[in-house]
Amino acid sequence: MNEEHLLRVNNLTVRFPVKRQGGGLFGKSYLYAVDDISFEIKKGETLAIVGESGSGKTTAALAVARLVAAHEGRVELDGEDFLTLEDAALRKARAKVQFIFQDPYSSLNPRLRAEAIVREPLKSLTQTSKDEMSAIIDRLFEAVGLRPEQQQLFPHQFSGGQRQRIGIARALSTQPELIICDEPVSALDVAVQAQILNLLRKLQQDFGLTYLFISHDLGVVQHMCDTIAVMYMGKIVEYADRLSLFNNPQHPYTKALLSAVPSVDKKRRAQAKRVLIPGDPPDPINPPEGCRFANRCPIAEPNCSKSQPPLRDLSDGHKVACHLV
Ligand SMILES: Nc1ncnc2c1ncn2[C@@H]1O[C@H](COP(=O)(O)OP(=O)(O)O)[C@@H](O)[C@H]1O
Ligand code: SF4
Ligand SMILES: [Mg+2]
Repeated sequence: MNEEHLLRVNNLTVRFPVKRQGGGLFGKSYLYAVDDISFEIKKGETLAIVGESGSGKTTAALAVARLVAAHEGRVELDGEDFLTLEDAALRKARAKVQFIFQDPYSSLNPRLRAEAIVREPLKSLTQTSKDEMSAIIDRLFEAVGLRPEQQQLFPHQFSGGQRQRIGIARALSTQPELIICDEPVSALDVAVQAQILNLLRKLQQDFGLTYLFISHDLGVVQHMCDTIAVMYMGKIVEYADRLSLFNNPQHPYTKALLSAVPSVDKKRRAQAKRVLIPGDPPDPINPPEGCRFANRCPIAEPNCSKSQPPLRDLSDGHKVACHLV
């Protein structure tokens, strides 16, 4: 275990039982939502997982936080084997990993006041006195840019951006080390997105947080991460530090995702044509034997469908899973 790493995920696999298509009587098959992925995050850094909807990002994040069961693999958090912890040790470790959800409308209990929402993880995972809890909640409301009197309001009295601030305060309440942000701005207006991203960056600096940041949009993560893992159909197809990925993308899928990111430069943005990736991913219950991207890949060759390309290290940790790279 490298001391620098807060999180190490090895060979993580998550599968869901599904009714076999074609109506087999006893047939049970599995959808491998996450299929043997590995990644690591250094303390204080951000790893982004990027991919289209359905690629397995949320499932991977939930499995890392033990909110869905992993079928195989290991999650090492701060040197501990997180997936096997129990009881008090588990509660203690759970307090170190908190989640910010995609939808600030459905992820907050509508019957609780904002203050009670933020207090909830403190109550269930820590042994903090009432007075201490109130002091922590006061500080958190300030840290996320909400006013003290807003503690007594209910979720429906807040805007989307403000609700996500409550979600962030809740995630911070147990003084976690790792925050998993699952598309935290996807449901928000563009102007509000920037505010929330700035807030997350500031909190990371102020509290030394480590982020696992999930997005379907490379544009959102381009100012938000140190390392990027690109996922396609449950697999990591490219893994690199941010600059290598943006300046020197290797996988045809990554290149296609990048072509859809509007340029920061206004003139180029006006000209930018959004290259959408043609076609749909194959049926995840029956993935193809070879490269899973082959039916949509602009440079596919017959050999690509014969075997699955392994994730290979090109240089300096830039990894790619493609037969032709
Ligand atoms: N609870 C579940 N039961 C069955 N299939 C699921 C479940 N959750 C997710 N899936 C499937 O797993 C795949 C990955 O989903 P998800 O992790 O939500 O992807 P993403 O977050 O990248 O959009 C999808 O094919 C999805 O339909
Ligand atoms: S292995 Fe072949 S089909 Fe798959 S991404 Fe590479 S070139 Fe395209
Ligand atoms: Mg998702």
